[in-house]
Amino acid sequence: MAVKEKESWGTRVGLILAMAGNAVGLGNFLRFPVQAVNNGGGAFIIPYLVCFLLMGIPLLWVEWSMGRFGGRQGNHSTPYILDSMTRRNFWKYFGVFGIFTNIGVAAYYCYIESWTMSYVLHSIMGTFRGLSQTEVADFFTKYVDVAHSTTGIPYEAVIFYILCLALNTYILSRGLKGVERAAKIGMPLLIAFGAFLALRGLTLGTSGASAEVPTASAWDGLNFLWTPQFDSLSNPKVWLAAAGQIFFTLSVGMGTIHCYAAYVRSKDDIALNAVSAGFMNEFVEVVLGSSIVIPIAAGYLGLDWVKENAGFGMAFQTMPFLFEKWGTFLAMMAGVMWFGLLFFAGITSSLAMGTPWMGFMRDEFDWGRKRGAWSFGLIVLLLGLPTVFFFQQGVFDEYDYWAGTVSLVVFALAEVVLFAWILGMDRGWKELNEGADIRVPVVYRYIIKYITPVLLAFVFLGSLFTPLNNDWQGAFDGLLAGNGWSLDNSSIIKQITNAGLYAQLHAATDPVVAEGIRQRIFFANLARGILTATFLGLCLLVFLSARRRAAKAVKA
Ligand code: PHE
Repeated sequence: MAVKEKESWGTRVGLILAMAGNAVGLGNFLRFPVQAVNNGGGAFIIPYLVCFLLMGIPLLWVEWSMGRFGGRQGNHSTPYILDSMTRRNFWKYFGVFGIFTNIGVAAYYCYIESWTMSYVLHSIMGTFRGLSQTEVADFFTKYVDVAHSTTGIPYEAVIFYILCLALNTYILSRGLKGVERAAKIGMPLLIAFGAFLALRGLTLGTSGASAEVPTASAWDGLNFLWTPQFDSLSNPKVWLAAAGQIFFTLSVGMGTIHCYAAYVRSKDDIALNAVSAGFMNEFVEVVLGSSIVIPIAAGYLGLDWVKENAGFGMAFQTMPFLFEKWGTFLAMMAGVMWFGLLFFAGITSSLAMGTPWMGFMRDEFDWGRKRGAWSFGLIVLLLGLPTVFFFQQGVFDEYDYWAGTVSLVVFALAEVVLFAWILGMDRGWKELNEGADIRVPVVYRYIIKYITPVLLAFVFLGSLFTPLNNDWQGAFDGLLAGNGWSLDNSSIIKQITNAGLYAQLHAATDPVVAEGIRQRIFFANLARGILTATFLGLCLLVFLSARRRAAKAVKA
């Protein structure tokens, strides 16, 4: 057998930037502000920070430890990283999650990433100049209505999607060096652009008020986000949202951190690296992420508008319009910086999503980098085209829900149990502290062993059995009174059966509306079919790899 050249990170700075780039993503700028607004602003922040300390940091440490541990034995993706920690066959199939989520998330994530490329171009071209707020918003709607797109470039969304995947593939084909370079260029630019725009958000004050919105004030936006409200602490809905955001933003429960950490040399520090990358992500999210969209939008359109319209469309549908108020040149610059920042945030994350697949195929089937990268690009393209063509029918949301939300919690819960209880906390703790450049606080030994798994179990059960209207108090009262537990349509169980969509269908009187809902149900099932097939396909590869390994073991 040809001896594979051993890959590892070039420099420590490169590693930390790559890990931070992996974590810092669209989630920091598009998802975080929306989650915060929808969950009561300051009411969101405390559960969010608690989740960071009790779930985020512990999971980072667990995943970095697992990754380096697996990497030492030549395993760079979760199927065999988990396998190396246990003796049971089952776990390597469970590890499929750590490749699957990346492919599933990349399929829709790269689509958003491709919008940012197009929007940089349109900012330079001055497409948004002189348009009304509605017209700028409509531009987006037309953009994602792929087949009838009237943005000036036919099939623009598809073209940019393919371009974006080609770029990712190209960088990935250069291996870790490519990833490291992208992070070294992307992260500093992202922070510079972000700092510029945040400064604008922080200094806008009431200067954006107008005759239509005389009360508009950026301060209202900032105060809304930053005035802590303790009453939310007893609301599980806010906790679930906070936990979900922590997962997504730190990229935990996905398999990417394991993969990156598997390329760390076996005696190098992981404890300090993990927190450095984690805190860098939190800085970008909490400081930069909350100082741009919300204050700027509140500064021109008022806080009430923001509360009513919070959604990730704000970034594309509203920001270009608001930038226009800064004059031709600054509007262009702001557009380039904003969408450029989103682009860098996106690409350093989507590159990370490619590495587990590449690592797996290389470890198990001796695939080279080029083949690994191109096959990743191709698979993502196949999975992604339905999100591009049927964006409005909800394929995108379906991927985000199953691959980008539910899977993470399931995987994180399992891995923390595996780490603390099956591998055992003694060995786990030793692994984490090996070569460590900081003293990991001893409380974390207990947090990782008891608190993190219990919290994760709560998050999982809470999402599985979300009660009607998210009314937890009422649900428990009802249960005690013997009335059973009514599930909300947003609970995982009801989502599986499309209960919410069927309820809408039964309520619909207009045949056109009903047809639309029927389509959504069809596409929801289609999306799940695709995801399931992907998962099973990966299981098959794991099965084949196990046979290969067994055959090799016999020969040796
Ligand atoms: N953490 C990234 C973000 O905040 C998302 C991501 C998901 C990155 C999966 C890597 C893997 O946008």
